[in-house]
Amino acid sequence: MTEAIPQHIAIIMDGNGRWAKARGLSRTQGHRQGAKILENVLRHAQKRGVRVITLFAFSSENWGRPKEEVDALMDLFRNYLKNDVEKLKEEKVRVSFIGNRNRFPTDLKQRMDELEAQTKEFDRFHVILALGYGARDDLTGAVRRIAEAVAIGTLKPEQVDTACVAAHLSTAGIPDPDLLIRTSGEQRVSNFLLWELAYSEFYWADVMWPDFNEAELDKAIEAYQGRQRRFGKL
Ligand code: IPE
Ligand code: IPE
Ligand code: MG
Repeated sequence: MTEAIPQHIAIIMDGNGRWAKARGLSRTQGHRQGAKILENVLRHAQKRGVRVITLFAFSSENWGRPKEEVDALMDLFRNYLKNDVEKLKEEKVRVSFIGNRNRFPTDLKQRMDELEAQTKEFDRFHVILALGYGARDDLTGAVRRIAEAVAIGTLKPEQVDTACVAAHLSTAGIPDPDLLIRTSGEQRVSNFLLWELAYSEFYWADVMWPDFNEAELDKAIEAYQGRQRRFGKL
């Protein structure tokens, strides 16, 4: 048992589509509601003493969804980065992004770069948005960069250890998540942070993401505090 507050929480924000369907709304309306509730959740996490939150907003596999849904999500991200993230910036929250940006519209890529540069010195709370993110892609990129370094002789094979791999991931320098939350009742990781979740506690919330709120976050933190973390040791 621990009284500690998880310092890094990773969230798979799942269930927007089902939330909308149950209400006779479009999937886009579900995503819109999902984006809207984030503000309260982030504010509450800060208040509870959480330092880092990583949010799975769009996976590498989500590019395979129908074009209309992908387009609607891009519009939503554009809007979110313009308004909501601007507000976070004013509150001196650090915002950064993990995932492959290549396929994102140019203006979104520019906005991501700009926000990262503008907020990189802020240290009271860090929001990491996983956009176009897939852990297998991320690990593959790390392996490739390590192989290149070995090939040109700046790295020796025997220097490739777990710290070296971690340093080549997009999450380099960020402590691993203490707690993973997935909403919607699904109990899988769907290619999220495969390396970083090695010793995270998992919490499956039964609500769809648009119904997640402060009380649900408190429940997840309480469940975390009832866990015995061991990291393989006694
Ligand atoms: C999560 O909700 C948001 C994204 C993956 C972009 P879903 O869109 O996966 O909603 P469900 O799982 O179909 O209900
Ligand atoms: C995971 O949800 C990705 C995000 C929440 C962004 P999905 O809805 O894409 O995952 P699967 O397909 O149910 O595993
Ligand atoms: Mg889903």
